[in-house]
Amino acid sequence: MERYGTCLLAFILLFAVVPRPSASAPAAEHTLGAGSSLSVEDRARPFLTSPDGTFSCGFQDSGENAFSFSVWYTAAAEKTAVWTANPGAPVNGRGSRISFRRDGGLALDDANGTTVWESKTSGGGGALTISLLDTGNLVILDPSSSTGGGRVVWQSFDWPTDTLLPSQPLTKHMKLVAGYFSLYYDNDNVLRLLYDGPEISSIYWPNPGKNPFDNGRTTYNSSRIGVLDANGAFLSSDNLGVNASDLGPGVKRRLTIEQDGNVRIYSLSASTGGWAVTWAALAQPCSVHGLCGPNAICEYQPSLRCSCAPGYEMVDPRDWRKGCRPMFSVTNCSLQQASPEQQPRYKFVKMAHTDFYGYDLWFYQSVTFAYCKKICSEMCLCIGFSYKLQGQGVCYPKSVLFNGFTSSAFPGNIYIKVPIDFNASAPPVSARSTTGIACEPTVPVIVQESGTFGRSGNGTEWPYLFAFAGVLGLLDLIFIATGCWFLSNKQSIPSSLEAGYRMVTGQFRRFTYRELKDATGNFKEEIGRGGSGVVYRGVLDGGKVVAVKKLTNVAGGDEEFWAEMTVIGRINHINLVRIWGFCSQGKHKLLVYEYVENESLDRHLFDMDRTALPWRERYRIALGTARGLAYLHHECLEWVIHCDVKPENILLTREFDAKIADFGLAKLSKRDGAGDSFQLSHMRGTTGYMAPEWARNVPVDAKVDVYSYGIVLLEIVIGSRISDQTTAGGERLEMSQIAQALRQVVDTGDVVPLVDGRLQGQLNPRQALEMVRISLSCMQERSNDRPTMDDIAKVLTACDDEDEHPAYRS
Ligand SMILES: *[C@@H]1O[C@H](CO)[C@@H](O)[C@H](O)[C@H]1NC(C)=O
Ligand SMILES: *[C@@H]1O[C@H](CO)[C@@H](O)[C@H](O)[C@H]1NC(C)=O
Ligand SMILES: *[C@@H]1O[C@H](CO)[C@@H](O)[C@H](O)[C@H]1NC(C)=O
Ligand SMILES: *[C@@H]1O[C@H](CO)[C@@H](O)[C@H](O)[C@H]1NC(C)=O
Ligand SMILES: *[C@@H]1O[C@H](CO)[C@@H](O)[C@H](O)[C@H]1NC(C)=O
Ligand SMILES: *[C@@H]1O[C@H](CO)[C@@H](O)[C@H](O)[C@H]1NC(C)=O
Ligand SMILES: *[C@@H]1O[C@H](CO)[C@@H](O)[C@H](O)[C@H]1NC(C)=O
Repeated sequence: MERYGTCLLAFILLFAVVPRPSASAPAAEHTLGAGSSLSVEDRARPFLTSPDGTFSCGFQDSGENAFSFSVWYTAAAEKTAVWTANPGAPVNGRGSRISFRRDGGLALDDANGTTVWESKTSGGGGALTISLLDTGNLVILDPSSSTGGGRVVWQSFDWPTDTLLPSQPLTKHMKLVAGYFSLYYDNDNVLRLLYDGPEISSIYWPNPGKNPFDNGRTTYNSSRIGVLDANGAFLSSDNLGVNASDLGPGVKRRLTIEQDGNVRIYSLSASTGGWAVTWAALAQPCSVHGLCGPNAICEYQPSLRCSCAPGYEMVDPRDWRKGCRPMFSVTNCSLQQASPEQQPRYKFVKMAHTDFYGYDLWFYQSVTFAYCKKICSEMCLCIGFSYKLQGQGVCYPKSVLFNGFTSSAFPGNIYIKVPIDFNASAPPVSARSTTGIACEPTVPVIVQESGTFGRSGNGTEWPYLFAFAGVLGLLDLIFIATGCWFLSNKQSIPSSLEAGYRMVTGQFRRFTYRELKDATGNFKEEIGRGGSGVVYRGVLDGGKVVAVKKLTNVAGGDEEFWAEMTVIGRINHINLVRIWGFCSQGKHKLLVYEYVENESLDRHLFDMDRTALPWRERYRIALGTARGLAYLHHECLEWVIHCDVKPENILLTREFDAKIADFGLAKLSKRDGAGDSFQLSHMRGTTGYMAPEWARNVPVDAKVDVYSYGIVLLEIVIGSRISDQTTAGGERLEMSQIAQALRQVVDTGDVVPLVDGRLQGQLNPRQALEMVRISLSCMQERSNDRPTMDDIAKVLTACDDEDEHPAYRS
């Protein structure tokens, strides 16, 4: 059962630090002897903490009444697990227990007595001890061993789950795993990312189209070891060397493989306890294999979309990973050989700039298109071919269509084989992603002007909130509430969604209507109102203050709502309002949000009675908003378009960090045919944040958010509504006139007169000019001309040099 070899002994000894005896603080144990245990009911208390307090281990919420035994960074707000004893096999919230047994084995027992996981250690004459080290390594030691300080009998560092901690080696015997994806050393000594799905497996990193040396790796060093060091540099024996963007000591980091197949280094913000991505293995999500499933094509422009190949339809409308199946009957090639004259006749449907990775039946060079087509028609196994002209024609007949992608950079086309009588003029099925939440041009999401979530119609002040305080209280609440709820309401969960829902991590959970009614005092205190519903202040049993939104006009049935919730619940970024849970009971559909204390941006920008928002805060809000949107568009597991970016939806924390509210709701809104055109023209005339393409009834993409962001950015600079700008004669300015004026500012560089006069020149002109420049590019009429949120966040980050402004030097 020993998974690590002797070569690892060096490391074992390295980490076999003797735990310092705990001087004071009897509550936090660093070392326990045999016979110690912790029941899941006592999970508010950690099982162990490391001597310097950096790490804790204990029970952690991993879904509905589901718990895991994990190690986490104590300072991380979300308690993100860096190691888990029982990944994918959670234990019950009542009656489960972690025990360091008398025989020296660590074991996790479920409520019904099943041992879900155990360390399989014993010996040491009952004198074994268990400690959590300052590295985050959970170790079982034999102190009686003659080796100074004791011998490591077992350590969590040898059994990583999806995360590697600084100083923890990734060796040839280990793998980081998330779903179908894994990071591991291949037989040729190269560190790779592998998609290992139910039907097919393939390597997608480093670039499988190149040999290891062209990818900057080597196959010669067989030590197969990679370590993330204390400075944030990951060095691997295959020559891979990468640096976290915040390279340097003193930062808490982790390297994690995630459910979207990417590997990222995260750094912990000491002030907020949030995680920021400081390195990612893949810049383009479509280069991960398996995201769209077989016979489907991944497109990233500007957010990720899956679509079926022509003639194919989605297997499961809720899950792109299952891919697409043919809508025509497929010839059984082993039967077909017997009667070749009965072979059905085919035609080919072209998809430009598209290819599928690998699975080529053969490879023909210097052939004409007609020849390539003939080969595929005659070859039973061929279901399509790729043809590209690069000086000479290259032909790849395909037996399997997997990991398809469309990119304007790809010089060839794919031709899909369909029966001759198949109606290929039918529109391609499922052309838009249902993985992400895409905007529908006709969805009336932005209807009300009277304010939205975060803004009160009557000027009620948002009271204080400590976003992460009360988590422990909430955990207790989850236990009490969901323990009962789970038994009595289980049958009301659509069974097809239950599995997905249970996977949702963190504190995301389902609430009962009764609970939320009590929490809000029968929906007494309204704190906001908008297109998608009314928001109330609420206090959960644990004392945690929340914002409860009652949704109106929810489209679709329960299944659809649950599906959306599993998507929204997984979205988690420091610049996005955290969603804690939801309620779906009959007609009652509610969402429970983190309560953000310092009102929405519009109050601070446009309320002339207030002291002006200082420049530094303005810039930070602009940057935070850009990062939040970039996360929605490019980073998170499900790609989301906000569709309603405006100052009312940008909430501010005490430190004036921006948190975007109201994302992910576009698809839940009801579409009612008759009202659409009216509402569209209505919206266009009044909101002032909508991209021109909304009015054109064409499919919209993430660039609508970029447009709206550009307007908000300009409002941050000038301190008033763009839609309120008038000429000297009092006439409203057209957007074209505003763009004209901005162009002039950008050309002359004379930005100061444009900036909010209330700042009295206390600003950083370089940043202001950059903001105007970005804003102008976001307002472009053609969505393709606008930058992506990623581009914007990068430019703003590069310009984020607070020291430069003398007014803020202290
Ligand atoms: C205990 O529960 C687990 C998970 O629910 C189940 O797999 C196992 O079979 C149960 N064992 C017994 C003895 O009931
Ligand atoms: C192989 O990699 C290890 C770890 O990165 C390194 O210490 C060692 O020097 C390398 N060996 C050779 C021959 O390059
Ligand atoms: C990482 O940082 C080190 C030290 O600054 C530098 O020598 C190295 O080239 C960097 N590596 C990469 C891949 O940028
Ligand atoms: C094709 O025919 C062979 C021989 O009859 C049979 O064994 C096989 O299962 C068939 N395959 C499919 C996909 O129907
Ligand atoms: C093919 O599909 C198009 C578009 O859906 C439809 O208008 C046409 O009638 C269809 N033709 C046949 C022969 O089914
Ligand atoms: C806002 O004020 C109006 C008029 O004073 C009142 O009718 C309404 O109930 C108030 N709404 C809230 C949420 O307090
Ligand atoms: C909210 O912002 C104002 C400035 O407009 C500031 O004075 C106040 O302290 C902030 N409130 C909180 C709760 O931080």
